[in-house]
Amino acid sequence: MIDLNRLQKSSGILGNSEKIREVLEMIVQVGSVDISVLVTGESGTGKEIVAKALHKVSRRSNESLVTVNCGAIPEGIIESELFGHRKGAFTGAGDDRKGYFETAHKGTIFLDEIGETPLSTQVKLLRVLENGEFMRVGDSKTLYSDVRVIAATNKDLGELVQKGKFRQDLYYRLKSVTINVPALRHRIEDMSLLVERFALEFTRTNDIPYRGFMPDAIRIMKQYGWPGNVRELKHFVERILVLEKGERITESMVERQLDFPGQHTTPNPHLPVLIDQSPERAERELMLRQLFLLRQDVESIKHILGGSGASFGEQIPFLPHGKDVIPSPMKIDEDSPHFIRNDALGDMTLEELEEEAICRTLKFYNNNRRAAAKSLGMSERTLYRKINDYGIERKIKR
Ligand SMILES: Nc1ncnc2c1ncn2[C@@H]1O[C@H](COP(=O)(O)OP(=O)(O)OP(=O)(O)O)[C@@H](O)[C@H]1O
Ligand SMILES: [Mg+2]
Repeated sequence: MIDLNRLQKSSGILGNSEKIREVLEMIVQVGSVDISVLVTGESGTGKEIVAKALHKVSRRSNESLVTVNCGAIPEGIIESELFGHRKGAFTGAGDDRKGYFETAHKGTIFLDEIGETPLSTQVKLLRVLENGEFMRVGDSKTLYSDVRVIAATNKDLGELVQKGKFRQDLYYRLKSVTINVPALRHRIEDMSLLVERFALEFTRTNDIPYRGFMPDAIRIMKQYGWPGNVRELKHFVERILVLEKGERITESMVERQLDFPGQHTTPNPHLPVLIDQSPERAERELMLRQLFLLRQDVESIKHILGGSGASFGEQIPFLPHGKDVIPSPMKIDEDSPHFIRNDALGDMTLEELEEEAICRTLKFYNNNRRAAAKSLGMSERTLYRKINDYGIERKIKR
């Protein structure tokens, strides 16, 4: 029997909690048996390192571990990727090609995000799980692969079965041996160890001085929910070490960087901006930023005029339409993450905000569309389309 400490060292699975011990024990118990295993758990809990550990303790450890991210392969080619294809099977299939199941022969195949596989492919997966048999796409010859299957998912497969999105027979076949990797918030006692190890590893490889985390910093980190689990924790530790430049990490530094629900933290200007957003979201955010700047303009004009808020009311953007509102003096709170006044909430749509931003930006740039598009953070083509959609041309001329 492999001892758990050795397994932890070789697999890199950290933790002293009872829950992690149970996971490690399961790996030892089922790892060496040639049986398929389903690894479940929320995103970032460590399903992939568990799968790797299962392969490592198995008798197949000298053979390859082939990882397939089922969720990342387009539906149209997933079968050809998994099972291979015959020359001419479809347009573009210029040669015979091996699939992952053939490549993994004698080793292990790790089917990550199994919940994402199309139903038609699931039938074929069931067959290969039952007896190792499969066919290349466009071929009628049955092939055989001696492969051990480990599958992982962060979805509730039982629920997918209920919704008709996952085959019940495949679900039963897979779930007989399940390892559930617990969420970090359910094994919060592992926090200090994880933080310490991630911090040491990161500072050592990057040559950053490390002075540790104060006990209060760890205490407050334990109160956070960590929806992204260990992955989120690891990135957080690395980020805070960089931002605090080798200082000892205190409670207030953590509070500043962690977004506790209900607490409005000021976005940190030193943080890298998100670039993996959808274009719509990025556009919306740029637009909101633009609106914020407009609001600041209004504020400075107000100062110049020295007039009362009431007389200037109609021209302040984002006030509820069609209401006789006397705005309270518009205070721009540097620390507030909000761009929109509370009393305007519920009375405006994103379209209205967008239209207003476009109108005013165009006026500001004397109708120079290139400059306006650039400043709004959208392409000129998008700006043209929106000008048409909102009938802005007319309004500007007025
Ligand atoms: N117990 C642990 N000890 C050390 N590192 C861990 C542990 N659990 C997770 N990690 C680290 O956290 C990160 C995420 O782990 P992993 O990729 O295995 O998660 P996952 O469950 O597969 O996530 P997803 O569902 O998003 O694919 C990796 O960098 C991994 O090394
Ligand atoms: Mg994963």
